[in-house]
Amino acid sequence: MKLKAVRGTKDIFGDDAVKYDYIVETAKKIFTSYGYSRIITPIFEETSLFKRGIGEGTDIVEKEMYTFLDKGERSVTLRPEGTASIVRSYLEHKVYGKEDSTKYFYHGPMFRYERPQAGRYREFNQIGVEAIGGNSPILDAETISMGYKLLEALGLEELEVQINSVGGNASRVKYRQKLVDFLSDKKDVLCEDCKTRYYKNPLRVLDCKNQNCQDITKDAPNLVDSLSIEENEHYSEVKKYLEVFGVNYSENPRLVRGLDYYSNTVFEIVTNKLGAQGTVLAGGRYDGLLKTIGDKDIPAVGFAAGIERIMLLLGDNVKKETPKVYIAWLGDEVKEYAFKVAETLRKSYINSYIEFDEKSMRAHMKKADKLGINFAVIIGTEEMESGKVLLKNLAEREQESLGVEEVAEKLSK
Ligand code: HAM
Repeated sequence: MKLKAVRGTKDIFGDDAVKYDYIVETAKKIFTSYGYSRIITPIFEETSLFKRGIGEGTDIVEKEMYTFLDKGERSVTLRPEGTASIVRSYLEHKVYGKEDSTKYFYHGPMFRYERPQAGRYREFNQIGVEAIGGNSPILDAETISMGYKLLEALGLEELEVQINSVGGNASRVKYRQKLVDFLSDKKDVLCEDCKTRYYKNPLRVLDCKNQNCQDITKDAPNLVDSLSIEENEHYSEVKKYLEVFGVNYSENPRLVRGLDYYSNTVFEIVTNKLGAQGTVLAGGRYDGLLKTIGDKDIPAVGFAAGIERIMLLLGDNVKKETPKVYIAWLGDEVKEYAFKVAETLRKSYINSYIEFDEKSMRAHMKKADKLGINFAVIIGTEEMESGKVLLKNLAEREQESLGVEEVAEKLSK
């Protein structure tokens, strides 16, 4: 039997690995400019963290978690997302006692037992941010804007920023009743999932992808009409500052998100280029989560983006680097010298290609051409004796005799 990667998991290598790093490096630059610093938390946590944090009635907790007993009979879960872990860490280390506001970014694998399809995996990677300890609506707008700017900086096009406010607990309870009243005579024609949602988590009926459910909820009351005066003001300020930051957005009254911890602002950045898996980046405010997990009244907001989804949208313009220089050595007597030259060039971080076995000049040039390398350093006995090498521009067919340090300097430019 041939061994294969487990269904819903994949290997990332070659150009894809370069894309992965490009996304992370670009994000790091942008997030750092807004004052975020890196946090690394464990890949698995106590199961109760996610049950309490994400919510017992959510699809993630009910159906999608990789939960198992370890050898000490403790129930642990491979993290399905990053927010709950970061909040746990923040509370555990009492970071609130040391700073007024804390901004973390993270990236790494998450695990959800979902039905795999293009853009949806069982092990996938997220890059995300969590700003803990600020309740200003400007922070919400800044967070959305930063997410949008990241995707823009990566060259993604035709993205739509969708926002909504789900208010606080009291408003949601009020709204839930209105929605249940609206749906009560229609519940039998909802899809099977929504029939369950109607009783367990009726708000989720609003973002069901089933066309029939969408038609049914078209005239449903809007959540924003149930918001308190303060929640409304908060939402208006978020919209005002999105304009200040130059972010075009649309309001989507159906946007409710699949995790229970959200309050007030929620948002998603979507594309129509990925079929059903069109949400590239998503998040919102979660002012109640620190209370749920650690009994602290500390507000927070954040988002996460799916790295694989971004990779699918990046296309072919991010590629693996080809070596900058081909070191062609001619004759066994110069072999050691050639490898020393390679060491010197690599000390200056010049991507240098060198063969371990002897080859003819013709074979070297063929190989350099095949690898798409533009420069060759040619080394024969004459070069070795003079302590120099021949640097050849393969495209322009020009060559000059230079010291190795000079070559390093030239190719570094
Ligand atoms: P989420 O909406 O569950 O939010 O996931 C965020 C993003 O992760 C999605 O928009 C999508 O791009 C990607 N994603 C989710 N599931 C999969 C999958 N099975 N395969 C590939 N990509 C996937 C959260 O996880 C929240 N923790 C976001 C957040 C941070 N809210 C506040 N702070």
